[in-house]
Amino acid sequence: MAKVKTTFFCQSCGNQYAKWQGQCTACKQWNTIVEEVIQKQDKSGWKLPTSTTKRVSKPLLIKEIDSAKEARLDTFDGEFNRVLGGGIVPGSLILLGGEPGIGKSTLLLQISLKLPYKTLYVSGEESQKQIKMRAERINPENDNCYILTETKTQNIFKQIEVLEPDIVIIDSIQTLHSDYIESSSGSISQIKECTTELIKFAKETATPVLLIGHITKDGNIAGPKILEHMVDTVLQFEGDRNHVFRILRAHKNRFGSTNELGIYEMQGSGLREVSNPSEILISKKDEELSGNVIAATLEGMRPLMIEVQALVSTAVYGTPQRSATGFNAKRLNMLLAVLEKRAGFRLAAKDVFLNITGGITVDDPAIDLAVVAAILSSNEDVALQKDFCFAAEVGLSGEIRPVQRAEQRILEAEKLGFSTIFVSKYNKISLKKTAIKIQLISKIEDLIEFVI
Ligand code: TYD
Ligand code: MG
Repeated sequence: MAKVKTTFFCQSCGNQYAKWQGQCTACKQWNTIVEEVIQKQDKSGWKLPTSTTKRVSKPLLIKEIDSAKEARLDTFDGEFNRVLGGGIVPGSLILLGGEPGIGKSTLLLQISLKLPYKTLYVSGEESQKQIKMRAERINPENDNCYILTETKTQNIFKQIEVLEPDIVIIDSIQTLHSDYIESSSGSISQIKECTTELIKFAKETATPVLLIGHITKDGNIAGPKILEHMVDTVLQFEGDRNHVFRILRAHKNRFGSTNELGIYEMQGSGLREVSNPSEILISKKDEELSGNVIAATLEGMRPLMIEVQALVSTAVYGTPQRSATGFNAKRLNMLLAVLEKRAGFRLAAKDVFLNITGGITVDDPAIDLAVVAAILSSNEDVALQKDFCFAAEVGLSGEIRPVQRAEQRILEAEKLGFSTIFVSKYNKISLKKTAIKIQLISKIEDLIEFVI
């Protein structure tokens, strides 16, 4: 028997070593190097489905290259198209990552069922019957979607050769294994090899491939970082599993912007596209409650009105509790320190709880002013007018700082019927005659006048 050949890989960056060492010299991480069995066989007996139609690439002058817009495949899913930058580019490799149970398989199955092209959905995780059951919940009528349960890439390519699909979906890359590598599925060398084979296939046949990728406990896509470099687009599907909203973001996109965002709602019959998220995120209530404030935020290029709730109560223990859901806890502490210093609030003796409703996480600094207003409102137990909204960043010295694309936020707030929006005095606003009142403020003290 041939000697088993092993190599060492860094789990973080995928760098390869001949022997074990404590620190990876490439990415400087400690204890990330693991041994894996690799036994490369002779690859000459096997070829990719269409490598017979060999296309030799030759250099072209840049002005000779056809600049006509690359035709994109419409996915018939408005949100997915938006995040990709207008559809799927032929021959591209798209990696979709996300927590277990967030809805990755549901999203891609749903898209395959909507597509009018011949689609091959390869699953290494579920049986054909299980997928059928899921498909029945979503949309049972489809004549173009083929389901294959297989994990060996060579067998998958054999089926592709027969079927000639227009688009291939793989659920998931961690379950695949190639004959040419000995180590088990999900190991770094397998992931690398299988992705390389899929990239070769995608580029040679101009067939787009959509991959599902598992993530590690710190939120990165499992496998080497190099996987993210290899593919054209990395999408992340996120959200709180206990809430219905799911957000699709592009972390990397060779063919479009990474600012776009897709929002879905998980329902009993699959994922529903949410084209006007603000209306759902704001609870419609008649009463005015203290501690509830609306922020005009931007997620990517989309304006999003979000409800911020704060609860300030007397601290029971010696050290006051601080808790933030959907908002950075360090930023909350910073804002509390600013309030203490600039507005004279004795918040050190108070517990502060903050919650962004809808289960979404916001990192737009424009939410600061709404957070401050919510805390003040709860502290004083004075409800703010429910048609007020806020969009500004708060600086360390209590100054109200301008935010990007303030006009877009104002117009969204106006559309949704808010009467007043609070923004920084330093924003350049050239809007004339708005139905909404634009309240310009420059420091926290100005806000207190309105809130209390
Ligand atoms: P799934 O796509 O299996 O997640 P992933 O592939 O990311 O691990 O999604 C599973 C969750 O979605 C599961 O908890 C059930 C729920 N779900 C619905 O609420 N409605 C539906 O129509 C479907 C198909 C799933
Ligand atoms: Mg799944």
